[in-house]
Amino acid sequence: MSLPIDVQKNRLCSVDQFPVDPAYRSHLEGILISEGEISSRVDRIAEELAEACAGQKLVAICMLDGALHFFDALVYNLHALIPVAEIETLKAKSYSGKTTTGSVTFSGFDFSKARGRDVLVVEDIVDTGTTIQATLDHLKAHDTKSITLAALFAKPDRHQPGLKEALAAIPSYIGFLIPNEFVVGYGLDFNGSYRGLRHLGILKEEAFQVAQPRR
Ligand code: IMP
Ligand code: MG
Repeated sequence: MSLPIDVQKNRLCSVDQFPVDPAYRSHLEGILISEGEISSRVDRIAEELAEACAGQKLVAICMLDGALHFFDALVYNLHALIPVAEIETLKAKSYSGKTTTGSVTFSGFDFSKARGRDVLVVEDIVDTGTTIQATLDHLKAHDTKSITLAALFAKPDRHQPGLKEALAAIPSYIGFLIPNEFVVGYGLDFNGSYRGLRHLGILKEEAFQVAQPRR
């Protein structure tokens, strides 16, 4: 399993250096990871998963909404390499605006479907880890055969105690380690906005004030 790519804030690029929707430009502090680099990393994670999960009857679970874009790219790649038996979605909500509420509510997935199965959990970003920890606990309580995690981004400075051990206890494929900043793009949003940004960017502080609350 390859190590995650460690991205530091001092490599932040200007929005002028990449094609960025004019509607987003003035809201962004900069581009942290370009679409091209994300896309190659996703291809690599798919290769690694295909090797590790060959022969499994995989149930791939997309953590909505943020992981949709990553899930689509990853599973499209996976399908070309190994069969993915089932695709499921799970909506986990722990955030309100840019603050984590500390508790997680699940909807849209019947956890009993995971019983006795090889499960691949696909998450956009592991921040405090509250969401992923609660998800893993729920899955384990339903006697899954195995759990593999693919998370595109992780913010190690924000991880809650015990998370490192929980992630080390299962095969965890992480794309990039990023600094403690609120990021948007490649499917990640702030109150429903900015998902369409093709790169991963850092939002300017003032953008938090003007973004419309989610209905
Ligand atoms: P956690 O429970 O604190 O790990 O947060 C997990 C969820 O919050 C992720 O699945 C994301 O949907 C969302 N999240 C955390 N950090 C960010 C961010 O920087 N930008 C956008 N969404 C985020
Ligand atoms: Mg998420």
